[in-house]
Amino acid sequence: MVAYADVGIELKPEFLKAVYFILKEQAGVRPGERVLILSDSKTPQHVTVAFRGVAMQLGASAFDLKVPSAPHPAYQPAFEWDPLTIAAASQADVIIDMAVGYAVFLAKLAAQGKRVIMPGDATGAPHIEDSLVRCLLLEDQHALRDEGMAIKRIMDAGSVLEIKSQAGTDYRVDISDLTANVFSGFMFDAAGVQVSNYEITPGSMPGFWLPKGRGDGVMAMDGLLLYDNVHELPKSPILFEIVKGRIVNVSGDPYLSVRLADWLKRLDDEAAYNGPVHANIGLSRMARLTEHLEFERVRGAMTFGFGDSSILSDAYGYDPATTSKSGVHWDAQILSGSLSIDGKAISVDGIVQSCNPTSE
Ligand SMILES: [Fe+2]
Repeated sequence: MVAYADVGIELKPEFLKAVYFILKEQAGVRPGERVLILSDSKTPQHVTVAFRGVAMQLGASAFDLKVPSAPHPAYQPAFEWDPLTIAAASQADVIIDMAVGYAVFLAKLAAQGKRVIMPGDATGAPHIEDSLVRCLLLEDQHALRDEGMAIKRIMDAGSVLEIKSQAGTDYRVDISDLTANVFSGFMFDAAGVQVSNYEITPGSMPGFWLPKGRGDGVMAMDGLLLYDNVHELPKSPILFEIVKGRIVNVSGDPYLSVRLADWLKRLDDEAAYNGPVHANIGLSRMARLTEHLEFERVRGAMTFGFGDSSILSDAYGYDPATTSKSGVHWDAQILSGSLSIDGKAISVDGIVQSCNPTSE
């Protein structure tokens, strides 16, 4: 199935370097700030301790809160967090989230100006240490940011995003009025100016949040499928027929297509079929196809979200009428597809093309 990663319980000294990089370089933690570390029972204790210790070293007041474990990421939108968690987070300047993820209260705190960073995409997986060391220390995050920014510029100037598969499927969506996100992990630019306060690390994964009701075609999903309590790689592509931003038919891989369709039907949640609500391409050469959400950063892999996008109204101020309100947010991935913007290739058969940031 998916790749295995190190789940050792002893602190690796390299991890302290990775944590320092996140807190200092990406989140910009300063002396005197309050830093809250959110973790759950899946987060190894030494991971939490490392974040707290390094935050202290940077002169911050550091606190950690072990919250009740949330359900599988697919069910995050409907999960109700205890007021104690929300109250603690509301008192912090910087929130290091390794447990909550896609939640209304964190999005609202970000909209109020709190800095929220999600190492490993906030799912507290046991091998978060291995994932962060591998991705943050073994490749140049600044270069990944620059490459992500170069792709963002192409996306921002574009009108049509098109995805083709080697099997001949084609999906198109109008992006003429949309602005791309980079998700580089950096909250400050090279000059020290704050450019973001809601980040996922490691990066980058440029792409779009897509308004409800937009996008048509067929997508051949040959990468990880995250739904219900499942992370699975299909043996053959799962085909999604999309009409006006909504799945109208699921076919392909005989094992997973039937199970996914059955899950969607049992949810009795019409908005669960909405999507893609986001479309992103990963740039990391070190990310693996693990159960950790690092799989979304795998270089050349495209990840698409379905179901809820309403939480983004809180985080980014999007018009609620353009977002999708669902109890689930699930993801599907294309590994070997081609992505183009107005005909300019961003990736071909899963290989990212040079967008050469320095020449633009
Ligand atoms: Fe997603």
